[in-house]
Amino acid sequence: MPIYAVRTSPSLHGEAQINTSKNAVLPIMAAALLCHSPVTLHQVPNLTDVDSMAGVLEACGAKVTRTGRDLTVQADHLCSPRDASVMHRLRASILVLGPLCARAGEAEVPLPGGCAIGQRPVDIHLRGMRALGAEANQENNLAIARGRLTGGSIYLDFPSVGATENLIMAAALAQGVTRIENAAKEPEIVDLCDFLIRCGARILGAGTGTVVVDGVSRLNGIEYTPIPDRIEAGTLACAAAITEGSILLSGARSDHLRALLFKLRETGMLVQEDARGLCLRGRAKRGVDVRTLSYPGFPTDLQAPMMTVCCKTKGQSVFLETIFENRYMHAVALSRMGADIRTEGRMAVVRGGAPLYGCTVEATDLRAGAALMLAGLMAQGETQLVDEAGHIDRGYEGLDEKLRQLGADILRSGGTR
Ligand code: EPZ
Repeated sequence: MPIYAVRTSPSLHGEAQINTSKNAVLPIMAAALLCHSPVTLHQVPNLTDVDSMAGVLEACGAKVTRTGRDLTVQADHLCSPRDASVMHRLRASILVLGPLCARAGEAEVPLPGGCAIGQRPVDIHLRGMRALGAEANQENNLAIARGRLTGGSIYLDFPSVGATENLIMAAALAQGVTRIENAAKEPEIVDLCDFLIRCGARILGAGTGTVVVDGVSRLNGIEYTPIPDRIEAGTLACAAAITEGSILLSGARSDHLRALLFKLRETGMLVQEDARGLCLRGRAKRGVDVRTLSYPGFPTDLQAPMMTVCCKTKGQSVFLETIFENRYMHAVALSRMGADIRTEGRMAVVRGGAPLYGCTVEATDLRAGAALMLAGLMAQGETQLVDEAGHIDRGYEGLDEKLRQLGADILRSGGTR
């Protein structure tokens, strides 16, 4: 069980290399099940969610090998995963539903169920599979999809990232043309489509609200390097905002972070974009209002780190979390540290500027854990961040190490990676 001892930090200086994106790697790993020959992904980060997804693919009959930061998937003989415990380790396990049904004609996927931030239903995934001609429903905690897939018209009630990904993957091998409306537009979806097109898929409109897929009979494996992790970059940018840092985020793509960069500039941060990545200087001085939205709106995954920034700035900041129903658990711990935060349903009001004091706090989910690590950088004294479930290692490769290299005083004990 990792415990982080975080002490008040001097301003952060230096350069951090941004890894490839967890939320691009996971769907592309699932998409490898569609390919008749091996897929090799490069620069794959060392994350427990990647390990868990490898276990999911193996439970589906694929062979997964890792050599350094390369990960290879060979999907010859596929089957529905029987081991529910493997599927429960991460919510993204639902992403094998579309590829399995498209490739093997049927999929029975144990549902991971809800998590700390929300109930995580899969109704939009199932409705979309039915529009592709599958018999699809949820039974005894299984997501089931059976039948030969044919092109169809799909409207997503909500621009769900996972449902958009699942349905694009299923449509890639369906017979005929599929039109997905109100599709999610996240950069990770564009990356998935770039990967699939290079494997031989025919997809138009990736990154727009309407994606058109003309199904093909076969996809061939390729070598591929996913996009950089905008949420890791955003988290480190928030750390600089808190400590009055001057840091270079190498490899970060500013075009994937427009909403966050706009908000950080609004707080008074200096943000420069150049060929190497993102350069952040100064610190956040003013509170800002944040409404999380589907891309290109402010990303829900950066709501918690941004709330920590707003604890530092003088003045009021109003948050509206429109994506998940229970994503303010970090506010409880921040308040224990001395922050003035009031939450009411999907709204939170932060009155920033009060000093924070180190104490023992618990990571309740991945991004809340990161936000509390950042809070320790600005708190007086020492913060003991207890990460009993290893949430932070799921989505960040050595976040403490990267912050330490920039000058933060963080010590990690227990829970070897
Ligand atoms: C992806 O989750 C990301 N995970 C999440 O990142 C991210 O927060 C989320 O998209 C939103 O951007 C990965 O990419 C692996 P959704 P996903 O389907 O696909 C509701 C992180 O910290 N919904 O867009 O599960 C759902 O309840 C993680 O890296 C339905 O109602 O998100 C939620 O309220 C956390 N029915 C909203 O849509 C459905 O069938 C957004 O969910 C599907 C979703």
